[in-house]
Amino acid sequence: MNALVSASVLGCDLSKIGEEVSDIQSAGADWVHFDVMDGSFVKSMSFGEPVLRSLRPYLKVPVDTHLMIVDPIRYVDDFADLGSDVITFHIEAAADPQEVIDKIHSRGVKAGVSIKPATPVSAVKPYLECADLILVMTVDPGFGGQVFLPETLGKVSEIRYMLDSLGRDAYLEVDGGINQKTARICREAGANVLVSGSYIFGADDRAAAIRSIKPF
Ligand code: DX5
Ligand code: ZN
Repeated sequence: MNALVSASVLGCDLSKIGEEVSDIQSAGADWVHFDVMDGSFVKSMSFGEPVLRSLRPYLKVPVDTHLMIVDPIRYVDDFADLGSDVITFHIEAAADPQEVIDKIHSRGVKAGVSIKPATPVSAVKPYLECADLILVMTVDPGFGGQVFLPETLGKVSEIRYMLDSLGRDAYLEVDGGINQKTARICREAGANVLVSGSYIFGADDRAAAIRSIKPF
């Protein structure tokens, strides 16, 4: 299965974010992953619309926006206007996930649904027929640079089985602690989009690091 690498901006040197985003795309990143944290759904705050607006001229590949915010429907229009190709929100943060998916689709954007490590697969099951991407968090959301939680792998395999049974080719994404070793076991479990921040941005040879997590 071909895998894509989505480079998490949170892992770059934020004092030169534009150059960093240009560099990681030249190194072979397939998507740019933009983590929005509100200090409420998760403890930390990251960046939001003004930063993505400033980044627009530097972006050449699809933008994979990951909303770690409460009541995500409030920001769908803003992130659609800024050219997100995928908008992913947390199922735990939405009162009516179907309404959020429909709103994202109404803007012509791909809709992703995400679950935290403690959230069971049953929470996303009702949306496997209509979501374009399922994101299984492999760390507790909130910070880059954390250690991969192997107990999340079972959920990746389970969702891969369900998507295949439904005949759906939705993306199955993993995010958190992805490096050469953890990427391989996630791909074997059925993931086909690998988010990586600290591993690829921290590498001396970023192109080699990207190739090491998507060797096909
Ligand atoms: C974590 C974010 C991730 C994070 C990944 O809450 O959603 O996208 O930046 O960073 P690494 O690859 O360093 O775990
Ligand atoms: Zn993320």
